[in-house]
Amino acid sequence: MNSMRYENPTWVCFFFFFLFSLFSLSFSDPRTSQSGIYCGASKLPLSTNFIPTFVKEMENLSQLVTAHHWGTHFVNSTPPMYGLAQCFQDLSHTDCLLCYAASRTKLPRCLPSISARIFLDGCFLRYDNYSFYREAVNPLVDSVNCSSKSGVFADEVARVEFVNSVGFAIENVTRTAVKNRGFGLAEVKGSVYALAQCWKTVSSDGCRECLEKAGKAVRGCAPRRDGRGLFAGCYLRYSTEKFYNDREEAENASHGSSRTGVTVAIVLSAVAFLMLFLFAAFAGYARLSRIKEGMYTSVWKLYRTSRLAEGADPCLRDKFPEKEVSDVLQIGLLCTQASVALRPSMDDIVQLLNNKDGEIPIPKQPPFLSANVLEPSSSIKSYSMNSLGSNALRKTEASYTSTESSSMDSSDGLSRI
Ligand SMILES: *[C@@H]1O[C@H](CO)[C@@H](O)[C@H](O)[C@H]1NC(C)=O
Ligand SMILES: *[C@@H]1O[C@H](CO)[C@@H](O)[C@H](O)[C@H]1NC(C)=O
Ligand SMILES: *[C@@H]1O[C@H](CO)[C@@H](O)[C@H](O)[C@H]1NC(C)=O
Ligand SMILES: *[C@@H]1O[C@H](CO)[C@@H](O)[C@H](O)[C@H]1NC(C)=O
Ligand SMILES: *[C@@H]1O[C@H](CO)[C@@H](O)[C@H](O)[C@H]1NC(C)=O
Repeated sequence: MNSMRYENPTWVCFFFFFLFSLFSLSFSDPRTSQSGIYCGASKLPLSTNFIPTFVKEMENLSQLVTAHHWGTHFVNSTPPMYGLAQCFQDLSHTDCLLCYAASRTKLPRCLPSISARIFLDGCFLRYDNYSFYREAVNPLVDSVNCSSKSGVFADEVARVEFVNSVGFAIENVTRTAVKNRGFGLAEVKGSVYALAQCWKTVSSDGCRECLEKAGKAVRGCAPRRDGRGLFAGCYLRYSTEKFYNDREEAENASHGSSRTGVTVAIVLSAVAFLMLFLFAAFAGYARLSRIKEGMYTSVWKLYRTSRLAEGADPCLRDKFPEKEVSDVLQIGLLCTQASVALRPSMDDIVQLLNNKDGEIPIPKQPPFLSANVLEPSSSIKSYSMNSLGSNALRKTEASYTSTESSSMDSSDGLSRI
């Protein structure tokens, strides 16, 4: 089939290589669960050059995180963009890259706010229009996230003992972190675990101030099982479960994993791929190049006719079972859904790929495909042709576009705070 040929088979191969690698590589825990996302209230009009600035910032931070586990970068634009990304020190190199990739794919929810920050349980990412690097506390945004689950205690004595243990763990982890260049772990009798991390740009006095305030606030979470302080200059968490990597494990993990180079490439290609979708969303689907559109169209047509496996590049088609190929392509289609809410998150994708017997959700037609790619049997087409006429069809397409841009603005992120 001629229409099935992609213009850029190398790129396609690389992307498939990434997806299939997820089947076989086993990672430890990159701690990508989100404990807080905060989108600034000032927004830019969508028409500005902000998205390219954002992408540039993220690319540059990505290089720095890959090399040093953290970094700051300044993009001289209007408004200026200062960025900071940092992995928590106990994360292995691989987990650090995965955590950064996850934070970077979640943060665009805030666009086009001129500032945003996201705390995952293993890393932090922020951009703003001023140099916030030395900021230790900021009463306007510092916050605490207590888990909803309370611990279970035999009696009042046990409860009081737990609350005291939390206090002790927090005190100990704060002292350790202040002594230990901004990072500390603490454990109390196997019942409470704590981690403290200051940003590398914060001075040691700033680190102490931040952790002391965060510790005081997080202590208020007890007797709940989990508490996190999400502050301008630091992160502090306690939990009844051991959620961090011991220093020794972390050191072992960060040394000499021979797969690290491969993983770096995988993570970066995944992120580049997701950024492409971000660009596409903002640029308006109409402006997507014919090549890309042709590719989606082909995959969509195959999907409609249950022949998805034929969509894989010949270089890969013979090497993998047909079911895996079509599952991966179906997940790819899910990533092109009009509404952000319908698209799977990075975590969802990993889960879908790992759970081979699981059901993959049914994708809706991607909005940038014009109606004429549908099979004549399509309900959408006959609906719009028979009962609505072509004006209504145009309206349907327009409303897809507006769904997209409104779900990209920050109200979504703000309402979650
Ligand atoms: C608090 O953290 C938990 C665990 O990561 C997360 O599920 C929840 O959404 C967070 N709450 C807020 C308000 O962000
Ligand atoms: C990051 O920024 C530095 C200087 O600001 C520049 O030399 C480098 O090429 C940039 N890297 C990327 C990937 O944009
Ligand atoms: C950053 O944005 C805020 C809100 O729009 C504005 O008040 C402030 O002056 C800006 N700061 C800089 C350095 O541009
Ligand atoms: C933290 O607690 C451990 C064991 O309870 C103790 O050995 C260590 O000295 C404490 N560290 C600080 C800085 O208090
Ligand atoms: C880390 O590596 C050392 C030596 O390679 C080994 O003795 C130790 O048990 C390892 N620690 C963990 C937690 O895997």
